Amino acid sequence: QDVPIAGDKKILLAAPRGYCAGVDRAVITVEQALERHGAPVYVRKQIVHNIHVVRELEEKGAIFVEEVDEVPEGALVVFSAHGVSPAVVDSAATRGLRAIDATCPLVTKVHREAKRFARDDYQILLVGHEGHEEVEGTAGEAPDHVTVVNNPDEADTVEVEDPSKLVWLSQTTLSVDETMETVRRLRERFPHLQDPPSDDICYATQNRQVAIKKIAEHSDLVIVVGSANSSNSVRLVEVALQYGAKAAYRIDYPDEVRQEWLDGVKTIGITSGASVPDVLVEQLMSELTHAGYFDVEEVRTAEEDLIFSLPKELRGDGPRGG
Ligand code: F3S
Repeated sequence: QDVPIAGDKKILLAAPRGYCAGVDRAVITVEQALERHGAPVYVRKQIVHNIHVVRELEEKGAIFVEEVDEVPEGALVVFSAHGVSPAVVDSAATRGLRAIDATCPLVTKVHREAKRFARDDYQILLVGHEGHEEVEGTAGEAPDHVTVVNNPDEADTVEVEDPSKLVWLSQTTLSVDETMETVRRLRERFPHLQDPPSDDICYATQNRQVAIKKIAEHSDLVIVVGSANSSNSVRLVEVALQYGAKAAYRIDYPDEVRQEWLDGVKTIGITSGASVPDVLVEQLMSELTHAGYFDVEEVRTAEEDLIFSLPKELRGDGPRGG
């Protein structure tokens, strides 16, 4: 009977985990907008998909709205890290809003690709989740040219006009393995399918998946810190299960860990999505110490040092609030 005793218990902490460069930039953008222009600062959609980050910014004076028509005319609005379609930019301008665009530069890159292929009259198969804000923004660059492919099964049925003028692009936060399977099945049907000029699934998404794959098979339980609407966090749970974790759950806060999850568990793998501040992981680990998990080993599979400059509206000294 292998009921773990305290000495058997261990945490494997994935690295990289947590904040990516695009999320860091987007959160600082809202903070600086508040500092320079004073509250309220309106933000269209959640600036990043993390409930803790959103609540903290609300406390500082940010007001989150679904659409720009909820923002008072002439007010300041920040566009979220997931990007916006040109139609949203236009309607903000029509309302006389002052806009700061916190779209992650790696999402903007995919927008540029979509525009370019649409200009050259390609049909774009956009691999991604219909209804996700990023997919809406990217598809909105060329609505007449984009067809969304949600999963590998849809690759078998998607309708194409001219198989010789076809390219695939993707959402930045997908499962790498599942996306490759979707593309493999697309290519079986359409051998002339072109690849994107460079990876659309971003470095942060890829690095977090590689790290969790490494620890999943050694983990009786994997806990992913991240919000339910965070695509890359949800993918980490799936990848952990595919790569051998006996169980995997996603939580926002440490108090969501259920006692029964820990029954018989010796090794817990921990990671967090790209929109999650590390303080939440630290709180989780501190909670787990009380259950005897104080032996922590960090398993690092990549170094990350990417930093993006702030949106142009915030660069330089600019006017400070107060
Ligand atoms: Fe950008 Fe990737 Fe983060 S697209 S916002 S670096 S998850």
